[in-house]
Amino acid sequence: MSFSEDFVFGGATAAYQIEGAAGADGRGLSIWDVFAHTEGRVVNGDTGDVAIDHFHRFKDDVAIMAGLGLKDYRFSVSWPRIQPDGRGRGLEAGLDFYSRLTDELLAAGITPWVTLYHWDLPQALQEAGGWPERETAQRFADYAAVVHQHLGDRVKHWITLNEPFCSSFIGYASGRHAPGLRDPKAALSSVHHLLLGHGLATQALKAQGAEQVGITLNLYAVDPASDSALDTDAARRVDGFQNRLFLDPVLKGRYPQDMLHDLAEFGGLGEVRDGDLQLISTPIDLLGVNYYTRYVITGNPDHPDLVGERRGQLDSPYVGAPNAREVRHGMPLTDLGWEIDPDGLYDVLTRLKREYPAIPIVITENGAAFADVLTDDGAVHDEQRIAYVRDHLAACSRAIDAGVPLKGYFLWSVFDNFEWAEGYAKRFGVVHVDYETQVRTPKDSALWYSKVIRSGGSLDDAS
Ligand code: FCB
Repeated sequence: MSFSEDFVFGGATAAYQIEGAAGADGRGLSIWDVFAHTEGRVVNGDTGDVAIDHFHRFKDDVAIMAGLGLKDYRFSVSWPRIQPDGRGRGLEAGLDFYSRLTDELLAAGITPWVTLYHWDLPQALQEAGGWPERETAQRFADYAAVVHQHLGDRVKHWITLNEPFCSSFIGYASGRHAPGLRDPKAALSSVHHLLLGHGLATQALKAQGAEQVGITLNLYAVDPASDSALDTDAARRVDGFQNRLFLDPVLKGRYPQDMLHDLAEFGGLGEVRDGDLQLISTPIDLLGVNYYTRYVITGNPDHPDLVGERRGQLDSPYVGAPNAREVRHGMPLTDLGWEIDPDGLYDVLTRLKREYPAIPIVITENGAAFADVLTDDGAVHDEQRIAYVRDHLAACSRAIDAGVPLKGYFLWSVFDNFEWAEGYAKRFGVVHVDYETQVRTPKDSALWYSKVIRSGGSLDDAS
């Protein structure tokens, strides 16, 4: 068996997706509050106002996690709960909430892993320009320092950003996420400022003695649909946007040449000052990887198997490469229409080992949405989710055998929650939540995962 004794089997959530209590204790607005309250942005007009009310129910939720035997939990801090307008000393009430959550977790034997930015930029900072504005990077580092000052005595694991690809290209280019803009230049300068914010925050945390600091990137296996020049070039670009544009500056201290060349007509990544890449590549202790699927890419706008038309995904996040599109490659689909491809996770992990400097890796998210049914006797038989997680854990195990320094796996997600532009209709949790009553019911996958954890990663005996 490839999972060492100290391999981490955890679960993950994010603040805006679960907390609710949007107006509690002076919390400010985030870009997601404003976006979700704008008509037509989120399926069914759903918002995170109440979500699963975790803010008020966190003790019960920690008890559920402890009952399942979870030993590690990744959650995010809501920036506008700490700094309502994105600056200043920090609100006592907000800091106190995360302090109590941390204490509750530790008392239950659960190690907290804190993500500082899971997409909820204070709206006031968006109004001052948002991530396209360089100043936002410094604001983020200051906020990171405030949070660490309050939790750093108990929290050892820190993730600066979650998925800067989404914050930049989906927020500012395709506009499917908050703040919902379609401005290629803004998206490109956001990339640089998010990464700069990561570098500055890493330095601030390290200066305060943080032990483990990393960043979480959403990485994909990317293959061309054929070996035609059109398809291979489109796949190169998608790999550039999704993977290399973030991995290279953080781990190698430079942006990929081919991307800089492609993006030159849009002004590149905006203003990159001397020393910026040095800051961005400040050594980190771990790389967080979120993995969901493999993209098979065509450059042919008339390809018969294009994905996305029906779901209104024609607005491309890929600046300058709108025809680079995903095609189906014959794997089963999740409820979000994502192809289930565990080998892609193996490919991502072994590629990191091959092409990047050695660094401990943690899967900070992996999981799937399925159309769960709660039976009359209060069970959810989510066999597909069990198979999904089992097959991806098996891919992790093979990657470890191939020499990848993989240290942990966090399942997305512990609880059903607000799935961004998809609202509450898509369920990712291993614990079912009835959004009317807030009743939590562990699904079969939760019970299965619990056995995996208790057995130290045995995938055969668990089901
Ligand atoms: C990731 C996000 C996470 C969740 C999953 C399904 O991109 O980080 O919050 O929505 O997708």
